[in-house]
Amino acid sequence: MTNEWFKSAVFYQVFVRAFADSNGDGIGDLRGVMSKLDYIRDLGVDTIWLMPITPSPLRDHGYDVSGHFDVHPDYGTLQDFRDLVNAAHERGLRIVVELVPNHTSDQHPWFQASHDPNHPEHETYRDWYVWSDTDQKYKDARIIFIDYEKSNWQWDALRGQYYWHRFFYHQPDLNFDNPEVQKAMLRVAQFWVDQGADGIRVDAPPYLIEREGTSCENLPESHAYYKRLRAFLDAYSPGSMLLAEANQWAKDTLPYFGDGDEFHMNFHFPLMPRIFLALAQGNREPLDWILAQTPPIPANCQWATFLRNHDELTLEMVTPDERKFMWDFYAPDPEMRKNLGIRRRLAPLLENDRAKIQVAHSLLLTLIGSPVLYYGDEIGMGDNIKLDDRWGCRTPMQWDDSKNAGFSDAPADKVYLPVISDPVFSYQLVNVAAEQDAPDSLLNWVRGALNIRRQHPAFGRGELNVLPTTNPALFAYTRTTPQEKLLVINNLSAHSHKIALADYGIQRVRDLETGQDIEASVEFELPRYGYRWFQVVR
Ligand code: NOJ
Ligand code: CA
Repeated sequence: MTNEWFKSAVFYQVFVRAFADSNGDGIGDLRGVMSKLDYIRDLGVDTIWLMPITPSPLRDHGYDVSGHFDVHPDYGTLQDFRDLVNAAHERGLRIVVELVPNHTSDQHPWFQASHDPNHPEHETYRDWYVWSDTDQKYKDARIIFIDYEKSNWQWDALRGQYYWHRFFYHQPDLNFDNPEVQKAMLRVAQFWVDQGADGIRVDAPPYLIEREGTSCENLPESHAYYKRLRAFLDAYSPGSMLLAEANQWAKDTLPYFGDGDEFHMNFHFPLMPRIFLALAQGNREPLDWILAQTPPIPANCQWATFLRNHDELTLEMVTPDERKFMWDFYAPDPEMRKNLGIRRRLAPLLENDRAKIQVAHSLLLTLIGSPVLYYGDEIGMGDNIKLDDRWGCRTPMQWDDSKNAGFSDAPADKVYLPVISDPVFSYQLVNVAAEQDAPDSLLNWVRGALNIRRQHPAFGRGELNVLPTTNPALFAYTRTTPQEKLLVINNLSAHSHKIALADYGIQRVRDLETGQDIEASVEFELPRYGYRWFQVVR
């Protein structure tokens, strides 16, 4: 396994609770994921990102960690995890797990000892969290979960002090000024690499360290710690990949790559909403703008790109005007909104419009970086805005049209969340089995697109060159390596447009889907939300 495998990887994000239930308790588990590895491999992805699997009271679906060195009993055992890793590796699949350094659950033994002066280990853990006599410190730090929290401070009656939390009040932030905390989190990373993980997604990296008079985000001290984590992993387990979830403006994301000595990857948060913006406006301008803002990254690093994930579609990295437009356009019902975002899945967002879903994927798979697909989006799963928080996008995977969508044998009322049953997206209509059998299904289209992508490493590693055009609905670019040059043309609008390669100064191409050759002078039509992927014939 080469060290830069992540540069040409395609990731598949799995919420273990939602994927497949192996023991009929109504909750997805690691053995369930194991039973679906052939499906994941055949989809054409090569890396599985598992959302949190460690012990947790599950008030934030596992991002509220209450134990770092075990598997949540709902999901199985450490042995199940190791078996899953082995079974994945046998199929050429890699496994990425989560590290949540910024905070723990308030149920974590570290916090229990820290907040309780009578706890036998209180002295040891006293300074493991960010305690204060006043809630007036760090006033310049924004609140992230604005629908739930009014302050980043929470009063703790037992200790008689406030503790700092950037997310839910029950997720106290760890104190990374404490060398013991720093060491402990290295041990957690080491532990999961020992269990066989190929990489680690680091949750919420911007917020590690607090300093008065700053936004408490992206501080140099935080970067210093991530460099330490990277150096540790490079020495201990060369090839282990670190992926940052730094939801920041493009200029602030660059430091997360360091000089190629911090994170290998970072999610491109500002790009994601602009894909939706460009499609809503039928105009490439938002994409041109964000690519111009996107700095070059070190040669040994890679962006992670995505359309949707388990959270709300975040609108933190757009202007207030753009946010208002996006909310009006994509979340007309206030129930569709959450915090500064939109809690809907890909297919409902794009009105279940197959051409729109495909062109969105065309951008995801060819523009820059390594794409991350969210489970269920490959079959066009729907969401349920009646469910609380972000859960409406975390419902059971729809495998077939049998009871509980084939997700679980449990009685329906034991399943952790109801399966989608609305008229358009119900599991009887939208499911893996039905789509596997239908040659023209979205699932088979995604497989075909991933298959083409796999055969052309320039989609992952090629230099991007955006091509100017007089028609703002058309967004074209080349991806070039010494071996090949690829040309992609996307129609962002609901109208068809005539084009010729001559418009782009290109002589001759081969269509990657049909194998057909096209000459510069030939005019062809790009239908509404159409896309074409070509190899330039030299
Ligand atoms: C980011 C995760 O993606 C989100 O689901 C979680 O609630 C917060 N971090 C807090 O850990
Ligand atoms: Ca189960």
